[in-house]
Amino acid sequence: MPVAAPSAQQLVDRFGRVHTKLRVSVTDRCNLRCFYCMPAENVAFLPKPELLSYEEIERVVRVAASLGVTNIRLTGGEPLVRRDLPALVARLSTIPNLSLGMTTNGILLGDLAQPLYDAGLRSLNVSLDALDPVKFREVTRRDGYERVLAGIEAAQRVGFQSIKINAVAIRGLTEDQLVPFGHFARESGCEARFIEYMPLDADHAWEREKVLFADEIIDALSASIQPLVPLDGDGHSPATEYAFADGVGRIGIIASVSRPFCANCNRFRLTSDGKARACLFSHDETDLRSVLRSDGTDEQLADALLACVAGKWEGHEINTARFLYPDRPMYSIGG
Ligand code: 5AD
Ligand code: SF4
Repeated sequence: MPVAAPSAQQLVDRFGRVHTKLRVSVTDRCNLRCFYCMPAENVAFLPKPELLSYEEIERVVRVAASLGVTNIRLTGGEPLVRRDLPALVARLSTIPNLSLGMTTNGILLGDLAQPLYDAGLRSLNVSLDALDPVKFREVTRRDGYERVLAGIEAAQRVGFQSIKINAVAIRGLTEDQLVPFGHFARESGCEARFIEYMPLDADHAWEREKVLFADEIIDALSASIQPLVPLDGDGHSPATEYAFADGVGRIGIIASVSRPFCANCNRFRLTSDGKARACLFSHDETDLRSVLRSDGTDEQLADALLACVAGKWEGHEINTARFLYPDRPMYSIGG
């Protein structure tokens, strides 16, 4: 494996945003069918040869690290449906100064928590929208609620610290889950993070009226449990974090629609088929796979990553009449 030479170059865009976080999607496949992401059936998945191999992913990540990336988050689709994910984690763990996290739906976490931890994974976000099996099925169109809970417990047992539970907040559907998640955060030690519903669904059925907004979430939790007190963040996290007034339990809110955080965004993405994307909502991509598969050099890969970030736009346009859905839905971009 060639080692990318250290570089003084930074992944900086026209607005001065320095990019240090890369989300790496390892597959577009998933064992759930959440309505806000995937169609119910007949999903066209990428054929295996189109996916980057673990070796190719490692190479891109090494080059990204040489350009100042310090934080990798593995995503999908569902990352754990890709065979032997711990082997990829082990490869990435050999890259210095990189912290490794993953976002998973938790279905397969029960058996994989230990090997992932042993391979060097340290940060875990588990997507779970309801603390109730019936509502879980309504959102995901599949069973598996108990498996996700067992997966979270397994992750806690093997030593993952600061596990975050991601719940998409949808009006008319998950209001009744806010308070249960508040209690779950207080009892489990996991941070409950609510994500405002975004227009990333394959069916293009998103409507602003269906977004359950940050202010409403805070009010509901404060009224039913304890007042929420905002915590100081690093200014770059998409989540604003809160603690309950008595200090027990943490809540995060990702208010992508009502309080866009684009001005402080420091992340970009690699799709499972090897395209770099500067934003979830981008309309263009930079093809790294063709560089990888035409004997491109690390320098050419670095140039492609720098160009991708340099071309980043100011921010998403969800709140304007100009908004256009991205060409790919969430499962295909990588959450
Ligand atoms: N709006 C908000 N969040 C979404 N996610 C997937 N699709 C959407 C959407 N349309 C979430 C997943 C996961 C995270 C990566 O993104 O639930 O927690
Ligand atoms: Fe799968 Fe995540 Fe999309 Fe749900 S949001 S269908 S768990 S990739």
